[in-house]
Amino acid sequence: MYYRLRDHCHLILGALRGAIYDLQAGRVYSINRRAVEMLQRYQTCPIDGILTSRSADAVACREFFDKLSAMNLGAIYFEAPPEKAQEVLASAPAQFRFLWLELTSACNNSCVHCYSASGRQGDNDRVPKERWLSLIAEARKEGASALQFIGGEPLLVPYWRELVREAGNQKYGSVEIFTNGTLIDDGCVSFFKEHGVRVATTIYGADAGPHDRVTGNAGSFDKTLAALRRLVASNIPTRAASIISRLNEDEAEKIQDFCKSLGVKSGWPDVVRPTGRGNDPDILPRHYQRAPVRPPFRTGRSSFYRARQFNSCFSGKIAITPRGDVLPCIFARSQICGNVLEAPLKEVIWGEALQRCWNTTKDVVEKCMDCEYRYACEDCRPLAQGQDPLKCWLSRSQGCSYDPYSGKWPVDISLAS
Ligand SMILES: C[S@@+](CC[C@H](N)C(=O)[O-])C[C@H]1O[C@@H](n2cnc3c(N)ncnc32)[C@H](O)[C@@H]1O
Ligand code: SF4
Ligand code: SF4
Repeated sequence: MYYRLRDHCHLILGALRGAIYDLQAGRVYSINRRAVEMLQRYQTCPIDGILTSRSADAVACREFFDKLSAMNLGAIYFEAPPEKAQEVLASAPAQFRFLWLELTSACNNSCVHCYSASGRQGDNDRVPKERWLSLIAEARKEGASALQFIGGEPLLVPYWRELVREAGNQKYGSVEIFTNGTLIDDGCVSFFKEHGVRVATTIYGADAGPHDRVTGNAGSFDKTLAALRRLVASNIPTRAASIISRLNEDEAEKIQDFCKSLGVKSGWPDVVRPTGRGNDPDILPRHYQRAPVRPPFRTGRSSFYRARQFNSCFSGKIAITPRGDVLPCIFARSQICGNVLEAPLKEVIWGEALQRCWNTTKDVVEKCMDCEYRYACEDCRPLAQGQDPLKCWLSRSQGCSYDPYSGKWPVDISLAS
């Protein structure tokens, strides 16, 4: 008889400890080195000897296996595992799903933290209308089903309606415009409605003071607010993002309440990424932080297999800048993987540089590569890079204090599941 994890469970090894990923219940259980060794040993070595033995080791082993069985994580098997005991993991080809088109670097706001360093001139714009139109079709052909027009301020582009129409012709499942909202009038709202466009905008405060301070544009709050009211009244699917910098550090909760009162969906405000104009220590918030990384971690069949092959955040996505550069994410300004003014989109997407980005799992990230939680833990490469003093793309996340070499969190987390 042998003892093994059930088929829906996987043991992932860290430098010291291990973790059992239960893909059915979605939970991740941390186990110590001794438990790891027991599991490994009795996969291939019969347990018959320990079933009756009274040695301390055998008793501990039986207790551990009983616990795993009671939790539906493991079971006794009568057959030894096949000779090659390594699990055969489902591996899937990369899929292209999502496209950001940064139509312009021009903007009527000049937000203090803007990663694209957008401003009045828009002097970085190189991609002509015809190329945007062909990119919308090419991306759809390569598999993209969701598209977001972004900038800069996309509504400053005189032909933005033509691009939305083309996205409709190409039958994208979702078309969203990410706009600062200051230019939305009744005509825009009717057009959004007619073409099934979703809208995302940004709120930096619950009143004009903090919002306009961030945007550097007096009167921008009133305009964005008027737009939000129009959009809600017309039932356009609308969401509001919010980014916290030192200029609006105390606004997070107020923004949540404010959006709720307007009937607009909003996520918890995010922290400024140190990239573009955001790469300035003087504007990083002093106290406000992303929630620190810590258990419990969640897992699931698709997220687990994906995380073993691909970056959990930006695989399957690309952003195209107004210069034609292709990036794996709007924040990843250092990761230029090709240029659509020099090559067909297909070539860039399936080329070595972008595929290497998509394949950036935590197996290549400093410290995470030795951590048993690495296939359940989220990743933001541009944030880790921005916070790293050496700006290394594969640097560890500053938001995590776990030490996989000692198996310790800085505070005692006794229920490590
Ligand atoms: C670049 S803007 C473009 C769309 C539009 N102009 C707007 O501001 O909503 C898209 C989103 O990125 C956010 N953003 C800009 N710079 C950022 C940074 N350094 N870190 C995090 N988010 C940032 C903005 O606050 C906005 O929510
Ligand atoms: S964050 Fe948006 S609104 Fe602000 S400057 Fe950048 S592009 Fe313009
Ligand atoms: S950030 Fe890295 S080290 Fe920290 S828990 Fe996640 S995978 Fe482990």
